Amino acid sequence: MLEQKLTGSCGAIILGVDLAHMSNADFSFVLSKLEDNGVLYFPDQDLDIDSFRALGHRFGELEKHQIVDGMEDYPEVIKVHKPASESASFGVGWHSDNSFQKEPSMASMLYAKIVPPFGGDTVFANQVQAYEGLSAKMKELVDGLNAVHSASSAYQTEGAKKKFAKETAITYSWGDSILSEVIHPVVRVHQPSGKKALFVNEMFTLRFEGMSPSESRPILDYLTHHATRPEFCCRLKWQANGLAIWDNGLVQHYAVDDYQAFERLMYRITVKGQKPVGLR
Ligand code: SIN
Repeated sequence: MLEQKLTGSCGAIILGVDLAHMSNADFSFVLSKLEDNGVLYFPDQDLDIDSFRALGHRFGELEKHQIVDGMEDYPEVIKVHKPASESASFGVGWHSDNSFQKEPSMASMLYAKIVPPFGGDTVFANQVQAYEGLSAKMKELVDGLNAVHSASSAYQTEGAKKKFAKETAITYSWGDSILSEVIHPVVRVHQPSGKKALFVNEMFTLRFEGMSPSESRPILDYLTHHATRPEFCCRLKWQANGLAIWDNGLVQHYAVDDYQAFERLMYRITVKGQKPVGLR
């Protein structure tokens, strides 16, 4: 297997592996490269839905999305589909997958089947480097903070309601559960590496525990802006049959909506995670 780094901060292309028939030694190599790079891209993979799910199972238990409908026969698999007639809505904004859950997703996988001729990239940002890039005083502040996360801001604001009221290829089923709030440490200790990573994002983090929304806002805005500085990012250009795996405890990501006239179809699964561990 060959690793080609995408940038100096995160992301690597892994060549010479058939993900559907990976030996245990190859799988250990993939796991260690995921920990090093946060996100891996494997071009030219030949998977059907069953082998895609089987690959996911090697990383852990698959989960059903709380809001986005999965495929009828495979509820843990989401078809991230944007026909040429729609504009993209899924994943457009910086986020760590399902950080609104008590146990946010550990890893996510996206398998590209139809890609636009240009555009439709996904951008990733290394949250370990983002934490390391803070001043000592700011680290002192965030080390002791917890943040409130919820899906409500992404799906319940007026703008979001309008966006999701349209008929789209992706369908959503939400109940009051999206209004529930969960608390996570702002600095997350990645398991099992022990790396310290920032864990706030513009899509799902609402405020800090023990602070009002207006007290939280300037610090939150600073952190989410800082966390996605270009120095911490890599940009993944998809090709059909390319598959990406990322670790949501190490990176956050953003789906770029810049391919209005074209179709894009990806299959997506997420692997169950654990309650994030903080510093204190
Ligand atoms: C996601 O946020 O999981 C989807 C990313 C993408 O479609 O590029």
